[in-house]
Amino acid sequence: MQQLSVRHLLGIKDITPQDIQLIFETADQFKEVLSRPIKKVPSLRDVTIANVFFENSTRTRLSFELAEKRLSADVINFSASGSSVKKGETLLDTVNNILAMKVDMIVMRHSSPGAPHFLSRKIKANIVNAGDGTHEHPTQALLDAFSIREKLGDVGGKKIAIIGDITHSRVALSNIFALQKLGAEVAVCGPPTLLPKHIGGLGVKVFWNVREALQWCDVANVLRIQLERQQGKLFPSLREYAMYFGINKKMLDELNKEIVLMHPGPINRGVELTSDAADSHHSIILDQVENGVAIRMAVLYLLAGRA
Ligand code: NCD
Repeated sequence: MQQLSVRHLLGIKDITPQDIQLIFETADQFKEVLSRPIKKVPSLRDVTIANVFFENSTRTRLSFELAEKRLSADVINFSASGSSVKKGETLLDTVNNILAMKVDMIVMRHSSPGAPHFLSRKIKANIVNAGDGTHEHPTQALLDAFSIREKLGDVGGKKIAIIGDITHSRVALSNIFALQKLGAEVAVCGPPTLLPKHIGGLGVKVFWNVREALQWCDVANVLRIQLERQQGKLFPSLREYAMYFGINKKMLDELNKEIVLMHPGPINRGVELTSDAADSHHSIILDQVENGVAIRMAVLYLLAGRA
């Protein structure tokens, strides 16, 4: 059996293009399982997985939990609010207590970049990073690239523009790594205050004008303004941001070409996307969510084989 080159999924930076292909091929099979009347396989029947979320989440958490249940794993859920973290327990103590209950895998979201990397040096269980601060969100990038492959046949050679708050987004960085590893051309677009200073060093094109970015790309992956992570005022108002960087359906239709519109969610309707754009035929936003379950099943299944 083919194996991943890693025993944890901490970030896309650490995995190979072959790993990504293997995850995609495995996800293809799980997607077929998910279309059956009985959407469940016994693959992880002896595996116990803890979803350890120190930060808010809707899609990612539900998607992981469903993926685990579809694989017949035993699942426990932890969220920092209402836990003993509030009483001053350290991250390592919290996780070691969970592991003492004989847990095999940890899916973790944490506000500190590097938190899952730190844990991976201290514990034996396999770890999946479900978002570490502004750093990486590897399963989101995998499901995004998988959705592009499904829609356009291939990721290699395609032009993808990531539009919005690049500086504060873990989705942006993981997407850049994944798409480049698969041979796509990647651009970022946003106001200069929301683009990291040395972003060009990652080999991406930079646009400050959203219409130019849309002209250039085959796929626009639009991100939310991460107000909760921003310190100080980086743009005058959400209204002004929406005026200069917001995307509406008319702008997409006027391009006179096929364009695929993506968003990892949660959408702030009326800010980065108008409703008529988000709900238009250009959008594959709900396909991304659907594919998330198959991708996470593939990741968990492949990591469980890497004890
Ligand atoms: C993103 C996240 O939490 O990083 N959402 C997600 O996981 N689907 C993006 C965001 O919060 O804007």
